[in-house]
Amino acid sequence: MQDFLAIADFTPKELQEMLDLAVELKKERAEKGANRPLLKDKKLAMIFQKPSLRTRVSFERGMEHMGGSAMYIGPAEVGLGKRESIADVARVVAGYVDMVMARVFEHDHVLKLAKWSNVPVVNGLSDYNHPCQAMADALTIYEEFGTLKDINITYVGDGNNVAVSLMHICAKLGANFTIGNPEGYDMPASTVEEGQIYAKESGSTITLLNDAQDAVKNADVIYTDTWTSMGQEEETKKREAVFPPFQVNDALVSAANDRVIVLHCLPAHRNHEITDSVADGPHSRLFPQAHNRMHAQKAVLVKMME
Ligand code: CP
Ligand code: NVA
Repeated sequence: MQDFLAIADFTPKELQEMLDLAVELKKERAEKGANRPLLKDKKLAMIFQKPSLRTRVSFERGMEHMGGSAMYIGPAEVGLGKRESIADVARVVAGYVDMVMARVFEHDHVLKLAKWSNVPVVNGLSDYNHPCQAMADALTIYEEFGTLKDINITYVGDGNNVAVSLMHICAKLGANFTIGNPEGYDMPASTVEEGQIYAKESGSTITLLNDAQDAVKNADVIYTDTWTSMGQEEETKKREAVFPPFQVNDALVSAANDRVIVLHCLPAHRNHEITDSVADGPHSRLFPQAHNRMHAQKAVLVKMME
């Protein structure tokens, strides 16, 4: 049993095994209408400090598909670190359930939960990373191109949580990662240094740019995310002044490879970071990507319980 806290914690082989299992479980359900009860009678507690649609519903349905169940614990209920210390919450909840998924503001909170919990803890998004999203992204790219090796993936926008996990999974699995972000909205330098090590091992590249047009040249995948992440709402106005040159619109998509697909972790702020024409256009894979959250996470959950 182990935790799923960061892409960085797993070897390329382990990540590939999880993706292979995701493909298998997705196929099994499509062909047979059901999965094997791999998590029979297992209970997942889902602790949320922030709102969610995809993470909540995909984990809950994923558990049901494999004979288990999930329990939603909303932001007002636990008061993680406020009503009760994180160490106490972790030790109490671990006595009731088999796994914990947590969506937190500070990454340190999910690390603390994992430290004090004696059941596996899955990171459902922190201010630092979003590894479950990256697994679904990799699955979506794999389904499109049959591999991640040598695929050119460009992220356009804020260099925060989603970008960091995407960069790490690209570097681990051999995809070339490019980011085009406004100055001052870089990925943390330490995460790039880690990524460079993984990229060297897989023979891929990481390229850091401050121009969206330059960044999407030769892109097979264009990826974007909200300009203002949850918890940064007071910066909305400031960010809306800086990010418009990084909007994913038809002109930007036409500067990439013809076969380019467009991804977004969602929720999308339409006609801000992505236009309707792109989100609903022929290159968009936004909804298969969202649905792949469930398939990828089922594999993560099974691996965590092995
Ligand atoms: N992409 C994602 O994590 O969506 P939710 O915030 O709706 O869970
Ligand atoms: N960067 C976004 C991702 C949401 C899934 C946020 O943190 O709000």
